[in-house]
Amino acid sequence: MLKVLITGGSGLLATNWACFARDKIRVVLALHKTNVLFEDTESVFLNLESRDDILDKLVQISPDVVIHAAGLTNVDECQLNPLLAKHINCELAENVAFVCAKTGIKLVHISTDHLFSSKNSFSTENSNPQPVNVYAESKLNAEFAVKKLNNDALIIRTNFFGWGHQFRQSFSDWIYINLINNKEISLFDDVYFTPILIDSLATHIHALLALNEYGIFNVVSDDRISKYEFGLHICEKFNLSSNLIKPASIASLKSLAPRPHDMSLSNHKLKLKLGINYISVSNEVEQLKLQLGMGRPLEIQKAIRGV
Ligand SMILES: NC(=O)c1ccc[n+]([C@@H]2O[C@H](COP(=O)([O-])OP(=O)(O)OC[C@H]3O[C@@H](n4cnc5c(N)ncnc54)[C@H](OP(=O)(O)O)[C@@H]3O)[C@@H](O)[C@H]2O)c1
Repeated sequence: MLKVLITGGSGLLATNWACFARDKIRVVLALHKTNVLFEDTESVFLNLESRDDILDKLVQISPDVVIHAAGLTNVDECQLNPLLAKHINCELAENVAFVCAKTGIKLVHISTDHLFSSKNSFSTENSNPQPVNVYAESKLNAEFAVKKLNNDALIIRTNFFGWGHQFRQSFSDWIYINLINNKEISLFDDVYFTPILIDSLATHIHALLALNEYGIFNVVSDDRISKYEFGLHICEKFNLSSNLIKPASIASLKSLAPRPHDMSLSNHKLKLKLGINYISVSNEVEQLKLQLGMGRPLEIQKAIRGV
């Protein structure tokens, strides 16, 4: 059975990946501060500051694949602390890439759709990144560093959604929780992205791994939608009132960091490689609703044991 170690084990991506994959593969969540305990999933505290600790733990655990998903994901915090952003997003990724190259363990490095300015829609893997803030810069530099140290690494550019927890509310949680509580929210109708559900993201990454792919892949849905339109998808699938969602402009955002207006990525390379016909946001949000029915949010809440 494939054994996968995921750094950032308490994060949105890793916790959903664990729920989705643990009956098909062996998942080891590599933790930083927040403790997480799922049934049928191992957890281990791993100090990404130390290449020796990473090496010791990887030799001991012997995973087939490391998914590097640890990071500083708060865009304003990155803007406020550029050195910390560089350290966590880039230098820790370098440590992981170095040890994976040394041990021959396959690395999947999770990057972002945030790398581009607002000039183009559906950026491809070959488009020229133009980071507009510190978060994006640190993630782009991480890609360069990973590629340099570990040419065999699979680098995934994406934007995902799924069920979060008390320490990590996701964008879809925020919309859903406000709407079920009858609270009005504003969503940008001039910021575009191509979001994908974490379970689909994981499925496609496993398919790329099975083909032993490497280099950059965009793993996103087909649909370039605004944040406002994403909210409407949630309303439709969860049967909530769309009257509670007001369109707003990004110009109204009081944020420290400048933000890209168009983060949409092309998934053409992915679909061609895997022979996929479509990945529609509508289907992805439908799956999110099915997860609610199957108790995914509760399961994740229960697994998070705190700091
Ligand atoms: N969310 C999105 O839509 C999105 C979009 C594009 C790309 N990404 C990328 O996807 C990856 C995963 O994102 P996510 O949303 O799952 O992140 P998240 O929920 O914010 O979780 C971040 C994880 O990183 C860990 N971490 C933070 N500082 C660390 C350190 N110094 N050493 C080791 N671990 C540390 C945290 O552990 P503790 O809680 O214990 O500190 C947590 O487990 C990130 O690389 C992010 O840049 C995310």
